[in-house]
Amino acid sequence: MSSHLTGRLAPRPDGFLPVGPTTPRWPLGPHGIAYGGDYNPEQWPEEVWLEDVELMVQAGVNLVSVGIFSWALLEPREGELDLGWLDRLLELLHAHGIAVDLGTPTASPPAWFFATYPQAHVVGRDGTVLGFGSRGMAGPSSPEYRRAAVRITTALAERYGTHPAVVLWHVHNEYGAPVSEDYSPSSAAAFREWLRVRYGTLDALNAAWGTAFWGQHYGEWDHVGVPSVAPSVVNPAQRLDFARFSDHALRECFRAERDAIRAHSDRPVTTNFMATACPSTDLWAWAREVDVVSDDHYLDAADPRGYVGLAMAADLTRSVAGGRPWILMEHSTSAVNWQPRNVAKRPGEMARNALTHLGRGADAVLFFQWRASRSGAEKFHSAMLPHAGTSSRVWREVCELGAAVSQLGEVRGSRVVADAAVLWDWESFWAQDLEWRPSVDLDHRERVAAVYDRLWRDGLTVDFAHPEADLSAYPLVVAPASYLISAAAARNLTAYVEAGGTLVVLCFSGVVDEHDAVHPGGYLAPLADALGVTVEEFLPLRAGEHVRLAWTDGEDDEPASDVWADAVVLHGADVVARYVDGPAAGGPAVTRNSRGDGAGWYVSTRLTGDALAAVLHRAYADAGLTRSELPDDVEVVRRRGAERDYVVAVNHTEAAVAVPADGTDLLSGERVAGTVKVPAGGVVVVRTGAADARVIDVG
Ligand code: GAL
Repeated sequence: MSSHLTGRLAPRPDGFLPVGPTTPRWPLGPHGIAYGGDYNPEQWPEEVWLEDVELMVQAGVNLVSVGIFSWALLEPREGELDLGWLDRLLELLHAHGIAVDLGTPTASPPAWFFATYPQAHVVGRDGTVLGFGSRGMAGPSSPEYRRAAVRITTALAERYGTHPAVVLWHVHNEYGAPVSEDYSPSSAAAFREWLRVRYGTLDALNAAWGTAFWGQHYGEWDHVGVPSVAPSVVNPAQRLDFARFSDHALRECFRAERDAIRAHSDRPVTTNFMATACPSTDLWAWAREVDVVSDDHYLDAADPRGYVGLAMAADLTRSVAGGRPWILMEHSTSAVNWQPRNVAKRPGEMARNALTHLGRGADAVLFFQWRASRSGAEKFHSAMLPHAGTSSRVWREVCELGAAVSQLGEVRGSRVVADAAVLWDWESFWAQDLEWRPSVDLDHRERVAAVYDRLWRDGLTVDFAHPEADLSAYPLVVAPASYLISAAAARNLTAYVEAGGTLVVLCFSGVVDEHDAVHPGGYLAPLADALGVTVEEFLPLRAGEHVRLAWTDGEDDEPASDVWADAVVLHGADVVARYVDGPAAGGPAVTRNSRGDGAGWYVSTRLTGDALAAVLHRAYADAGLTRSELPDDVEVVRRRGAERDYVVAVNHTEAAVAVPADGTDLLSGERVAGTVKVPAGGVVVVRTGAADARVIDVG
């Protein structure tokens, strides 16, 4: 089997420095990218552990996450601890130079907990009480759960807070999954308290929720409840606040555990996010709470170009981390077990996935999981050490990747250079996802992915940004789906355009405020200055219906679009494309507004493929951006270090490609002059000269 990586195959020599009071919170150690994964040795007899760590050393593993689902073993009866096995495990790992990311086991409380505190079970929106025997947390607002979680976390922090093996804390697991909302009585009580703090008075709550509608007006706080299933659609403002509250309740659980750890340990604390896969956590807020951002990512096996979604998740993770390096906490060596068709990764695909994350800012490459589980729901999930053992393709590729990663230590700490920003706001997505929107066919996920895909194909590196963030560093900002927009965000976007930015806004944006109430002045009114248009009426299309557009600049193609049209009212914008037919025939379809030193574009329909490209390419011209000339499906990202840049090129095609670069290929050690050949399905990382050298021509 030919190797897709050209790194040396020796086990990595570097480890981590022992931590001390002056050690930075992350990353730890003198150099190196962390490599490893979730390790669940409690599923195996202790005799297997020695073999595990010896194989870890062989594979180049230097960091493992342990204890994530071990509550029932660590505390077999309430208040009774059994930490002996964890003591032995940490010693064994430490003796082999393998650092530990120590989990708090609170994502999966033991049987005794639910038997003693049945009221802590999560209740679904339809009133179903969610049972035991699976994973999934207790109700986040349950006082019994919070007490028990902090108690076990404190016990672990007291015992292992200064353990030399422990370099990182991994609180809980994927907050928000598999359930994010709890409709239990304890949740209802906590929701009311949260609303009291948010609104102060019942009058303010009634006004914010618009309770004059359908006679919902409240006269008593005690009558305010969680938005359980009701005869018809429940007040969207109430549901939006419940989404905010539910996210907040999970964050409170995290904070309580984090602070319990910090009382006994100076090691950094993280919790593993799922940037694009968990819709219920507002990671802009979460990222402020952790010492280092970490993320789990799994390919969508149904999508043959799932690597674009991977790149998007990595870019979003880096963005919530404020551009700082982050930890890829989990991904898979091959197939997962929970999709309808769990497609195995092809040779070389795991390395391309892993190094794409690295190229987009990850300083750690970790997997779920080290050794495949024999029993339980995840036995068909791939692992670093598969059921087939060390005589397997996956194992060989795991060792090759470990060796390659060990050649890339100097990349650590460098920052990705982005060309454009795409707006991303979980609150807006929560609101847009509620019922009774103008068309079920307009999906914010699809719109964001379509825009991202275009920018990715054009070789532009994307940061994601909150609509209220400082956007001044970006020549181009795209708002694919900004249904909910605050007055502050609208001012920010308008100021961005006036200062010379190029803003592209897609349809069904600028519609409601933070209470899901339509903006005074109508649709798009808050962005009217920036875009020079408003929307008089939404004109959604029937399923499968298309409309045709004509460019006003003489281009003779007539692109088609679907799903949506608007009756656009011009307030100074120029018409770039008109509707030829359909409900808005003759009216503006795409507009461009000059405002201050910048330009505001509005796209009032769902453009896909070449038509979306045609608009974005016109906007690139405004923004001074040019497209990469590399073939489709070759991605190139630049990480900028203090003195050097690192160009990471990933070739997803079946033909070798020459990528412009000068410097040293870190995996082969060879000099690169002018171009570097990236083999079919391969990855190359080139250290380039001075930080300001512009070697890859994407702009
Ligand atoms: C993750 C989870 C892991 C494991 C993995 C399987 O979401 O954190 O514990 O279940 O999925 O793909």
